[in-house]
Amino acid sequence: MLRTMKSLSSIAQDLKQNDIRAVTLRINAVKGINLGQGICDMPAPEAVKAGAKAAIDGDLSIYAPYSGVDSLRERVVEKVRSFNKVPLHGIENVLITNGSTGGFVAAIFALLNPGDEVVQFEPWYGYHSGLLKLREAGIRTVTLRPPAWEIDFDRLEEVITPRTKAVILTTPNNPSGKVWTREELERLAEILEKHDLYAITDEVYEYMTYEGREHISLASLEAARARTITLSSFSKTFNITGWRLGYATGPADIIEKMGLISDLFFICAPSPLQNGLAQGFATDPAYYQDMLKDYVRKRERFCRALETAGFEVPWPEGAYYVFASFKPFSDRPGFSNDQEACSSLIDRIGIGSVSGGSFYGNPEDGRYLLRFCFAKKDDELEDACRRIEGLWG
Ligand SMILES: Cc1ncc(COP(=O)(O)O)c(C=O)c1O
Repeated sequence: MLRTMKSLSSIAQDLKQNDIRAVTLRINAVKGINLGQGICDMPAPEAVKAGAKAAIDGDLSIYAPYSGVDSLRERVVEKVRSFNKVPLHGIENVLITNGSTGGFVAAIFALLNPGDEVVQFEPWYGYHSGLLKLREAGIRTVTLRPPAWEIDFDRLEEVITPRTKAVILTTPNNPSGKVWTREELERLAEILEKHDLYAITDEVYEYMTYEGREHISLASLEAARARTITLSSFSKTFNITGWRLGYATGPADIIEKMGLISDLFFICAPSPLQNGLAQGFATDPAYYQDMLKDYVRKRERFCRALETAGFEVPWPEGAYYVFASFKPFSDRPGFSNDQEACSSLIDRIGIGSVSGGSFYGNPEDGRYLLRFCFAKKDDELEDACRRIEGLWG
């Protein structure tokens, strides 16, 4: 049909389906194994499920306050004080959000005007850059390179201009697995202060760090606390990505404004699920240790399988992705770039991954990289590993 109506917004015209979803559709069509999308298909803890069922049965179904259910905010205060070592005053420092993504939306609308600039480290999590574009923010990038993903602080100072307002930081990182060290965070805190910048930190993989590495929240550093919004989520920790529940913590005045913005976009996060989580939050501390043990095992099995197939594998320091290079066999047919390699793995062995270019402003930077997610049930992961080990027949 010929469209004679006025065009859609320029934002809508520029949007296209992201690569991750496109791979999901293709992999489902061949009944393959999807290691592309960051979906953890392991079960949620019983206490969390029981809490939510009880809340639904008890008809706790009306809108929650826009800041979130108080009992859940209280539990978040306790968790952030003890796990993140951030001395929050109380629930005025906590906003319950529609996933950490809802928190990111609220943060960028609270902090940024169109035309303000933000610094992002590459490789990045695509929703951050996508949403920053919706906010019409200018994105300045600092590129981190494998295998060490070291931060070039000189480059960071170079990209900061008088229009720069904030720095976005994801630790542990998706896709690189990098976990920021205390020294790096201290250096960043100095730069934030020197240039009067805010920081938005995404810490959704905070419980997943390997080989004794510690997750450190930027807000635990006193020098950065007043200018840092910390985003976290229940999605990854409790395997409930579809429940859409996360939280933001930070200075009360900013959190209050973020709450008003969140109210306009979402009204509230799902209220029966919030009530349920407040119960389930009392999950046994052993849960976190067991979860980590599982990921340590899966990481080891999966990284070795990729190495067997000939990938160069910077073993992730945290999170549950591997961002591996196929450069060593890029002279083989079907592996000359990331898009081709992604297709070849689907066609040859029914394995879905994400092409490296989707994690960079300039897709050439990810030309020889693919991201795999190893948060899969053991039998499926084992099947995936065998397929990868058999890549060359
Ligand atoms: C770095 C990062 N942040 C945020 C999210 C989304 O989190 P949520 O489900 O809490 O919105 C993801 C999901 O893959 C992620 O990898």
